[in-house]
Amino acid sequence: MKAKTRIAVLVSGGGTNLQALIDAERRGELPDGELCLVVGSREGIYALERAGRAGIETAVVRKDEVRLRELLQEKGIELVILAGYLTILSEEFTRSYANRIINIHPSLIPSFCGKGFYGKKVHEAALRYGVKVSGATVHLVNEVPDGGRILMQKAVEVLEGDTPETLQRRVMEEAEWKLLPQAAELMSRALREGRA
Ligand code: GRF
Repeated sequence: MKAKTRIAVLVSGGGTNLQALIDAERRGELPDGELCLVVGSREGIYALERAGRAGIETAVVRKDEVRLRELLQEKGIELVILAGYLTILSEEFTRSYANRIINIHPSLIPSFCGKGFYGKKVHEAALRYGVKVSGATVHLVNEVPDGGRILMQKAVEVLEGDTPETLQRRVMEEAEWKLLPQAAELMSRALREGRA
């Protein structure tokens, strides 16, 4: 069989989803993939420290898709995971990695998604609307923000008295940190077996 799928994770913030991937790999729950590179959109973000501590190579690329593409090619990356990455990728970029970029979004798409819905704003919108169920979605990335094919979803209950912070935390714990490693393995296996 082909070697493990080489994965790059793109990050912009605290990196708890990256941590979930690192922990899953350590537990042997990513048998078909290998976390090879973490790319931050700026210096000093905590996600880069998490990567460094886990012994994963890191880089910083600020809004320079040419450099980003070169870097991914240099490192032989086959699967790109957006884990709290706040830069919107161009159509040219997403085409060049068609069906090989996934993103985690903290709502049940098509609710509370698209341009401007990121971080706490997603949960604020969900609470404002008054939904009783929210959750997370892992989807393929194309040129439409949060618009690519859905791979996995998990629902999470909204509770009486929730604030954007408490809802965000529950969605992360109950959905995001579980779904993203599962999706990473699903895609890694498919790419390794030549099915994706
Ligand atoms: C998560 O809620 C993720 O769904 C969203 O951005 C947040 C990133 O958090 N895309 P972290 O950096 O993984 O802690």
